[in-house]
Amino acid sequence: MKISDIKISKFSNSIWNKIEKKPRPQYMNDLRILNYKDFKNFIFNEKKLKEIINNLYRGDIYIIKKAFTKNFISKLKKDFLHFTKNNKSQFFKMKENCPDFHRIIDEEVSKLYSIKAIKHSAYFFHWNGDPYKFFNSVNSRWRYLKVLGGRRYNEFEKNTPKDGIVDRIQILKYPKGGSLELHSDPYHNQRMFISVYMSRKGNDFKSGGFFAMNRHREQVDLENKIDVGDIGIGYATVKHGVKKIDENHLKGNKKNCRWFMGLYSNDSDEKKNRITARPINKN
Ligand SMILES: [Fe+2]
Repeated sequence: MKISDIKISKFSNSIWNKIEKKPRPQYMNDLRILNYKDFKNFIFNEKKLKEIINNLYRGDIYIIKKAFTKNFISKLKKDFLHFTKNNKSQFFKMKENCPDFHRIIDEEVSKLYSIKAIKHSAYFFHWNGDPYKFFNSVNSRWRYLKVLGGRRYNEFEKNTPKDGIVDRIQILKYPKGGSLELHSDPYHNQRMFISVYMSRKGNDFKSGGFFAMNRHREQVDLENKIDVGDIGIGYATVKHGVKKIDENHLKGNKKNCRWFMGLYSNDSDEKKNRITARPINKN
């Protein structure tokens, strides 16, 4: 069986549709760790696929180890640095023919967004010719996650903003002091958040990083489980965020930062009433 076989997507979607009659998960349950090779095999095994979907809907977060090679991640960082050096920081709505762009999001700029984040993000869309030639490698992994999420393996890949939903690859740096507020993500296009980890705590920065909220309203630090090239997934409504990077290391190296790649099928700005991420009142 191939990932392109529509039967798997239909099976997966039917499991989701059944399970989603129950309330959506808000809190993290267990952390589960899988190798990428096993993960790919499990997608073709109905019993295992069903088990992963059930676990995700209970609020489990999966870290899929070694999904990308360290060389590929190094190349992505170089691509980001080249792109941000050669283009000015700016913003474009996701309308037809929107270019690739990057934006430095500081305290001030952050106020323009639905959730608070201090970060430097670069956004890439397939219709701009894939100048750094990373879409094929990224999509070959994303396809398994789309099928797990009940979508066709290549759904949205060729869409442009006028279609209403577009795939966007975001590569970003949380600088020293960077963070991402506790939030939940929309689930209507993509049932899971998909995080590709590009740095390792201890090497690239000292404190802070990815966390999720458990049912006791405690922030569970997951960054210690993460290595370069791993993928993290969880049901979109499970509350999560990024704790301030190195806020207690005032004298630390200014270059310290946390790198990340987000894969998301967004509502475009051609869509009326587009749905974006929501902040969470912590109380
Ligand atoms: Fe998120």
